[in-house]
Amino acid sequence: MKIGNVTLASPFVVAPMAGMTDSAFRRLVKRHGGCGLVVTEMVSSEGLVRGIDRTLEYAEYTEEERPVSIQIFGGDPAKMAAAAQIVEGMGADIVDVNMGCPVPKIAKHSAGCSLMREPGHAASVIDAMVKAVNIPVTVKMRAGWNDSARNAPELAKRVQDSGAAAVSIHGRTAEQSYSGVADWELVSRVANALTIPVLGSGDCIEPEQVVDRMAAGVSGVLVGRGVLRNPWVLAQAADISADRPPRRVTLRERGRFLCDYIELLLNERVDEGKGFRHFAPGTAAGVARGRDRWVINKVRALCAWYSKGFAGGSYLRTRVNTAASLGELLEIVDEFFFAVPVAS
Ligand SMILES: Cc1cc2nc3c(=O)[nH]c(=O)nc-3n(C[C@H](O)[C@H](O)[C@H](O)COP(=O)(O)O)c2cc1C
Repeated sequence: MKIGNVTLASPFVVAPMAGMTDSAFRRLVKRHGGCGLVVTEMVSSEGLVRGIDRTLEYAEYTEEERPVSIQIFGGDPAKMAAAAQIVEGMGADIVDVNMGCPVPKIAKHSAGCSLMREPGHAASVIDAMVKAVNIPVTVKMRAGWNDSARNAPELAKRVQDSGAAAVSIHGRTAEQSYSGVADWELVSRVANALTIPVLGSGDCIEPEQVVDRMAAGVSGVLVGRGVLRNPWVLAQAADISADRPPRRVTLRERGRFLCDYIELLLNERVDEGKGFRHFAPGTAAGVARGRDRWVINKVRALCAWYSKGFAGGSYLRTRVNTAASLGELLEIVDEFFFAVPVAS
């Protein structure tokens, strides 16, 4: 599958998820295989243009994640075009526009899903970006704003005409947020009507569902919550697509994943001379405390989803949520995943 000039080795994609799909998580999913594309957490166009360090950090990625798409949000065509140029300068393969976020903080600024309520304006954002960069510009939208405005079919056509290289659709409205079910019939209709690749998103938890959704006529499937529960789901979907039984994941492998995640997080934001980048330089002990706290919070956020995939998960979640230090967190992981002898 190709998006513009970018080839995807697999049609299965890690969906963008704010607070979750950081570079460490994306790298680990990628290492397990079956993943054709990763998308960053959404990044503010305003923050990129103003050069805010924290914003730039959200857009960072590593070479092993390629091909990588950086998702940006905003509603001002000139700023979105400038932000797309920054993203292109950072070496991203694709720049994606968030037209799906329903959160008022984002949507009230004519950004996120609000753009779906102003199709002409949304098209002008894409138009400005396409003129500004050479990398593919893609759009991620919802079914529409609400039930009486399910305009993804019209908007998708419009952004295609403005030069978008692909469209992803989460088959729920902004008003639905995550209630109800994703409307894959609508996704299918758009996929059949457009000439550019259309990818579908919503409710693919099991690898079989990921594969089955390809029958909607989409070029690819984005997996969000399913990959947080089971980071092997894309690899398992690739197994099924290739007529292999989906790989089994042991409890130890699940534990290893968390340990690797913690290790990558601990290493990734250490900047020579500046200490730990999420925190202002201070005393060594203060920096280490801040770093540990950040890692604990990230692992807690992941475990809210990750713990749903296996027996005893709610016990693990409760324990992780009470960990007072990194050492305690590691002990909890060790005890839960590695204390049981390996079955012969
Ligand atoms: C925690 C969380 C954060 C999300 N953040 C983003 C985001 O930053 N940008 C975006 O386009 N979609 C975001 N989404 C939506 C997902 O990309 C996806 O479309 C949606 O969750 C439906 O797919 P799923 O059922 O596979 O989770 C987010 C979803 C979740 C659960």
